[in-house]
Amino acid sequence: MTNFTEVATVEEIPPGERKRVEVNNELITLFNLDGELFAIYDKCPHKKTAPLVRGTINGVGIKCPNHGYRFDLKTGKCDRGEEWDTRVYQVKIDNGKILVGPVKNTI
Ligand code: FES
Repeated sequence: MTNFTEVATVEEIPPGERKRVEVNNELITLFNLDGELFAIYDKCPHKKTAPLVRGTINGVGIKCPNHGYRFDLKTGKCDRGEEWDTRVYQVKIDNGKILVGPVKNTI
């Protein structure tokens, strides 16, 4: 993914909300934490199936609904070790639209 793709409007994901989208066959979940948007690969890397969209917010992180591994929404780092680190994506807002761009970490 090298370009930004429009995935939602700003109104669709107000603060405290989340939305899962599909970009280039990848499921990505967007979180709005106090007005700041984050985008993370939706499938938990632990068992490769659990949807992080159903996880619990923990600071600037999301805890998997299955076993509680926590993923930092800024860096993709997992609190259980780097083998579980996951992808996070660039996000920008343009004219009321939310766009998801390339992966921003080095996973
Ligand atoms: S499947 Fe996500 S922590 Fe186990």
